[in-house]
Amino acid sequence: MQKIIILDFGSQTTQLIGRRVRELDTFCEILPYNKFPQDDPDVIGVILSGSPFSVYDPEAFKIDLAQIRGRYPILGICYGAQFMSHTLGGRVEPAPSREYGRQHLVSFEAENPLFKGFDKGSQVWMSHGDTITALPAGFRTIASTESVSNAAFQAEGDKLWGVQFHPEVFHSVQGSLLLKNFVVDVCGSRQSWSAASFVDTTVAELKEQLGNDRVILGLSGGVDSSVAAVLLNRAIGDRLTCIFVDHGMLRKNEFKQVMEDYQGLGLHVIGVDASGKFFADLAGVSDPEQKRKIIGRDFVEVFNAEAHKITDAKWLAQGTIYPDRIESLNITGKVIKSHHNVGGLPKEMHLQLCEPLKWLFKDEVRRVGRQLGMPERLITRHPFPGPGLAVRILGDITPEKVRILQDADDIYIRAMREYVCEDGEILYNKIWQAGAILLSTVRSVGVMGDERTYEHPVALRAVTSTDAMTADWAHLPYDFMARVSTDIINHVRGVNRVCYDISSKPPATIEWE
Ligand code: XMP
Repeated sequence: MQKIIILDFGSQTTQLIGRRVRELDTFCEILPYNKFPQDDPDVIGVILSGSPFSVYDPEAFKIDLAQIRGRYPILGICYGAQFMSHTLGGRVEPAPSREYGRQHLVSFEAENPLFKGFDKGSQVWMSHGDTITALPAGFRTIASTESVSNAAFQAEGDKLWGVQFHPEVFHSVQGSLLLKNFVVDVCGSRQSWSAASFVDTTVAELKEQLGNDRVILGLSGGVDSSVAAVLLNRAIGDRLTCIFVDHGMLRKNEFKQVMEDYQGLGLHVIGVDASGKFFADLAGVSDPEQKRKIIGRDFVEVFNAEAHKITDAKWLAQGTIYPDRIESLNITGKVIKSHHNVGGLPKEMHLQLCEPLKWLFKDEVRRVGRQLGMPERLITRHPFPGPGLAVRILGDITPEKVRILQDADDIYIRAMREYVCEDGEILYNKIWQAGAILLSTVRSVGVMGDERTYEHPVALRAVTSTDAMTADWAHLPYDFMARVSTDIINHVRGVNRVCYDISSKPPATIEWE
């Protein structure tokens, strides 16, 4: 399968480049800058990402360009462009002030393949401290903005381009067109990577890989594990056994509803209600880490006990997706996120790991789910943490507190699913993740009717994000917040105050614990 390689020099937007390329129905891999796959016959082009470094930083990431130049078309973005200029004999200097924000292409070479279809004055997004003041010999400028004369360049007679701006970000209005020009026209992508082709090839591969073996999969109710299950079910039918553990801290009615959805999809699911065990083990525990540990340990215990009953299982399937596996670099060059390990697999069962979604971004998982005919309710579901509402209740956990939070959360999420925004879209679908948090260690005074109350506040959280690594608090409509607040206080006993969390990540996290 044809692929574009994106070499990651540590920019925050590298993943975004990957997603833009995938939107062009083209497969791509994001690799650390120094891990170019020398012998991969499927590579059709290379993109060099931006970086937090200046080319003059002693620790700046460097590659041997000679290994790729001339073999593949290359597009350098920001640092990628500066690195090529600098290494090949041009001059890169600190800009008088950091160039940050929107600019417009005051001139560009209209006949250049990279700018095919571009409009005059097209808006681009800049974010750089250095600027290219002289190009290497044999290079020419192909676009300029008012303040950046070498906004884009090409090596004469060579399929090598550099752009100082970031075509991958939304504010570069024709950025996707530029990437299409590169990926499709220059590199020759056949654009054959689609949800339909993914389903066909993956089902065929899974049939081949798994033969007549039995597979176990842990379902969480979330999108990833559900899509993985349906895909596997297509490939091996009832040789897939799914296990769904209810730890008692799921959303209101979620266990029952999700079990029904799964059964509707023809999955063979063993539902285990282990809430009694979890509540007993969590009694009196209020330290967040301690709570997570207990839940993790109990979960493995319950899951393994069920898994052991399936004595002929050979594989354990997981809904791991691509962002879980991309090795992203931080400024020290250390990998800050690598393959998350599977904690506490039933070792003595000697299961092999099967991860059918390991190449997909989240939006692609959703597209595959739709292709598989899964209900929209399951596909658009917000992410939900493994430990569930336990990390959304400050202090110790009791069934009563879970009940209060479930009721408040249900009012909030239901209203979000019903609210239609001015642009016609459902509010829930615009939000990455939302939920209510019970501040059960806090009490405040209120008045209801003629009665003084002394009860807990509930905090509402809603964030926008693309990968949960960073997140912004969502600007929810005031009329929506007003309605939800009134409904919660009027209908949920034990709550007399509603607050909205306006913290971004970083420095806050999405979950409160
Ligand atoms: P934070 O709170 O770290 O969360 O900003 C980032 C994303 O991860 C989810 N999350 C978890 N998911 N087990 C999970 O499966 C966990 O222990 C866990 N903790 C946080 C969180 O909901 C958000 O989507």
